[in-house]
Amino acid sequence: MAIAAHPSTAREFEVVPGTPVQFPLEVRHQKLQSWIQDMVSLCKPDRIHWCDGSQEEYDDLCQLLVENGTFIRLNETLRPNSFLARSNPNDVARMEDRTFVCSLSKTEAGPTNNWVDPREMHKTLNGLFDGCMRGRTMYVIPFSMGPLGSSISYIGVELSDSAYVAVNMRIMTRMGSAVYDVLDEDNQFVPCMHSVGVPLEPGQTDVPWPCSQDEKYIVHFPEERSIWSYGSGYGGNALLGKKCFALRIASNIARDEGWLAEHMLIMGVESPDGEKTYLAAAFPSACGKTNFAMLVPPESFKGWKVTTVGDDIAWIKPGKDGNLHAINPEAGFFGVAPGTNAKTNPNATATIARNTIFTNVALTDDGDVWWEGLTSTPPAHLIDWQGKDWTPDCGRKAAHPNSRFTVPASQCPSIDSEWENPEGVPIKALIFGGRRSGVAPLVFQSFNWVYGVYFAATLGSEMTAAAAGNIGEVRRDPFAMLPFCGYHMASYFNHWLRFGRHIPDPPRIFVVNWFRKDEDGNYLWPGFGENMRILKWIVGRVRTQAAGKETKLGRVPVYNDIDWTGMEDFTEEDFNQVMSIDPEVWKQEILSHEALFIKLYDRMPKELMAVRELLLSSLFSYEKWLNKSE
Ligand code: OXD
Ligand code: MN
Repeated sequence: MAIAAHPSTAREFEVVPGTPVQFPLEVRHQKLQSWIQDMVSLCKPDRIHWCDGSQEEYDDLCQLLVENGTFIRLNETLRPNSFLARSNPNDVARMEDRTFVCSLSKTEAGPTNNWVDPREMHKTLNGLFDGCMRGRTMYVIPFSMGPLGSSISYIGVELSDSAYVAVNMRIMTRMGSAVYDVLDEDNQFVPCMHSVGVPLEPGQTDVPWPCSQDEKYIVHFPEERSIWSYGSGYGGNALLGKKCFALRIASNIARDEGWLAEHMLIMGVESPDGEKTYLAAAFPSACGKTNFAMLVPPESFKGWKVTTVGDDIAWIKPGKDGNLHAINPEAGFFGVAPGTNAKTNPNATATIARNTIFTNVALTDDGDVWWEGLTSTPPAHLIDWQGKDWTPDCGRKAAHPNSRFTVPASQCPSIDSEWENPEGVPIKALIFGGRRSGVAPLVFQSFNWVYGVYFAATLGSEMTAAAAGNIGEVRRDPFAMLPFCGYHMASYFNHWLRFGRHIPDPPRIFVVNWFRKDEDGNYLWPGFGENMRILKWIVGRVRTQAAGKETKLGRVPVYNDIDWTGMEDFTEEDFNQVMSIDPEVWKQEILSHEALFIKLYDRMPKELMAVRELLLSSLFSYEKWLNKSE
């Protein structure tokens, strides 16, 4: 094959059809070599680019993307070394209806995943990938999820025909040649195939955002531990280390090896006495996970500090010390831009001041970015996310609601000193929360691990723009993992229950809801930094079993358990309203869990059925049961 060095770079080589691929010295792994050879023969790219992960390579690829029209370089003074990409309007979010878990049996994938027989799916994919990279470059992207060489980390190699993917992967993972050094012959890697699905005929000019208009597939083969993604260049569909690997495939590995791969942020809460408590928290997509992970305490909380380990994914393993230890397998943040501003998230705002790739936000006249919520008064003129002129009265959103920033985590002012510790950080509490305008109170602590698993399993959330669906509708999103669990959801509940039985002192489990509204649709809780008040109570419960009262759902704080310094105008009445638990509404809520349980019936753990019965029996045995102490 190959192999005159490409004129512009020594990392890129022409492919000569019919001749074998010549591998760079560092690509020694036999299985990796034969997989790459097979994929080159199948996809028929014109060139291969062996990504080394260097800054120089990143800069070159960004420049190439500027020249191809995919990137716009932002104003160097206002937003140094940063770029804006605009995707095709039919490629703006994860597509759950095009996401498949092709385990050997349909039962293993369970009723919450799309399934196709793996043999049939391989046939379909082989057809689609045959020649799909003609006229394009195949980027070979070696990456580590988790610190390079850590025993908790896993290796993947993504083959993609998108330079946009290559530069995003450099931010979101530990990407580059050093990965090959930790991949000895015994080491497994997860093969991740990706194509935008738009081969180029000779002489055909490319479009700024190539993607297939009609065929998209995001496919996982759990037993093979492999991923194939076709037709989309956006986010979790294309950056295969994130949702596809670190959640869907890793959840399978975790079940087999006895750990947890979770859709959770990880944060540290440091009290004025210098003690730090680490927590992990699961919220469905676009519920403000990034904001919570980077929370800035109110001014009145002198000496309290929140630090960030991760904003989206946690791999949690039992440590030798009896604690659960968590790492963030990612190296960057792929955060939702709209709503991010210096007040809602000052840390994210500082993080994205430079070295950032923005996708689908608006462009200002002076070459900076803007999105809804960045400033209270919008600029008089913008170019919107579709490249059209925009004025405040035009009736369209300037930024897509699921527009994103990709940025290195190391730039975050609140990044935790231990965020790259290969041993992870010790987790003392787990928090689950959905977006519920009614029903769920601001906070409660579950009685124990099994009750906690019940509430996590029945988590509900109102839909947002991160995934396709009816905005506003409540959907059950167990553990915030509905789109990300790579096997039968009820087996996953069982895995959690089994896992809990083997931990001597399991983390305490809390349920929160920052999104409660009154009858007129006004939020009852200010959220953002004020969530620190709830965190302080949680940390107090974990450290000293501090106050609270018992209800039928679990333990809740009373008004005086919360530190109201600096928020004295939030009255006991306001608090009782946001904490209220209406028995009639909860009867309906618990009854509505039945739909989920029936769906998962064949593998539903008996423990969760029992908890549901216990909750119902408490509910029916009291007239006004909840807000009363026992
Ligand atoms: C994400 C998501 O992008 O959960 O993190 O959708
Ligand atoms: Mn997420």
